[in-house]
Amino acid sequence: MKKLSFMLLLLASTAYGQGNNYKQNYRKFDNLAMTPPMGWNSWNKFGCNVDEKLIREVADALVATGMKDAGYTYINIDDCWHGDRDSLGFIHPDPKRFPSGMKALADYIHSKGLKLGIYSDAGSQTCGGRPGSRGYEFQDAQTYAKWGIDYLKYDWCNTEGLKAEGAYKTITAAIRKAGRPMVLSICEWGNDKPWVWGPNVGHLWRTTGDVYNCFDCIKDHGSWKSWGVMQILDKQDGLRKYAGPGHWNDPDMLEVGNGMKEGEDRAHFTMWAMIAAPLIAGNDLRKMSEQTKAILMDKDVIAINQDSLGVQAFKYAVKDSVETWIKPLKSGDWAVCFLNRSKSDKPVEFNWATESVTDDLSGKALNAGQTPYVVRNLWTKKETGATNQPLKATVPGHDVLLVRLSPKPGSK
Ligand code: GLA
Repeated sequence: MKKLSFMLLLLASTAYGQGNNYKQNYRKFDNLAMTPPMGWNSWNKFGCNVDEKLIREVADALVATGMKDAGYTYINIDDCWHGDRDSLGFIHPDPKRFPSGMKALADYIHSKGLKLGIYSDAGSQTCGGRPGSRGYEFQDAQTYAKWGIDYLKYDWCNTEGLKAEGAYKTITAAIRKAGRPMVLSICEWGNDKPWVWGPNVGHLWRTTGDVYNCFDCIKDHGSWKSWGVMQILDKQDGLRKYAGPGHWNDPDMLEVGNGMKEGEDRAHFTMWAMIAAPLIAGNDLRKMSEQTKAILMDKDVIAINQDSLGVQAFKYAVKDSVETWIKPLKSGDWAVCFLNRSKSDKPVEFNWATESVTDDLSGKALNAGQTPYVVRNLWTKKETGATNQPLKATVPGHDVLLVRLSPKPGSK
């Protein structure tokens, strides 16, 4: 008997000694992106045309225009920064476009109190045909950490044979191992339901294909399509329950300032604020019109987006092309948005006293009939009465009316 247990022990210890007993940590770094990330990304405006001069100038502009003070923090370089891998497999930036190297660029960005993001891909090549991270995940994460990268957008082109959940867990484990906290932006376009497996793996996940700078259209590129603002919004249906502090649905980056009409830009920005989307500007910050600045830097609208409760708005009603969206806020306030999807002006009327607004997700109810709220129009900055009066207004085509309800002082 004694002999048998000794043999078993020996066998077990041999197996233990032989096997790789190292356990990966597949959990993301916590306490990052507790509100939707805010920043800028190069892709929507510049595509593959990125270099260190542009990135430095955009960082300068982000500070000079007041965007930084408004909360925008990340400067994210998207696809095409890459040069080649060296003989040991280490990735280097394109030496012509980034002659000073990424570490110097990160130092510059950090010296301005900002954070630097970079882009890679789970497959063999990025969507722009640059080297992907497949097979180099740990080495790349180590390189990014050494450079001082704070945010990684990880794309999904050329991933034949890979499963998304496993591929993203691998890069999470690699970031963990590298030891530098980085926000991980999962970019597999919502193909494999990242909202289900993503919350422990990344901090935000794309829910759709790429956004296109039109309000209401589909752009057909032949083998793939990109989507207007309204199309992207419709694709968020059913997803709000998956988002919250540290893990956000990502309906793609902003197209504000990239060619839509002012009201359309305002509606786009407002809806992204309402659904607690990451606010990643995608325009040329060096050349912004006053209108674009006013939209991107509206403190009241940003506050709706950054509200610490982290609950996305829900679509409460649809009537004659006008959608009513409602977002509960931490303080007991509510944001209410009337989105006019048609091209023509539409009247809206909302009787606070008779509408019964409850949100099962947050467990909150808006008893505006009993509790009087002050109603403030966030874009015009005007108080428009209180909830004891029905709200009556006209919303221009492709635009919004956005109000914030705050309990009247002295009321319960
Ligand atoms: C994909 C992503 C975009 C962008 C490009 C870069 O299409 O969804 O956001 O990163 O790749 O090539």
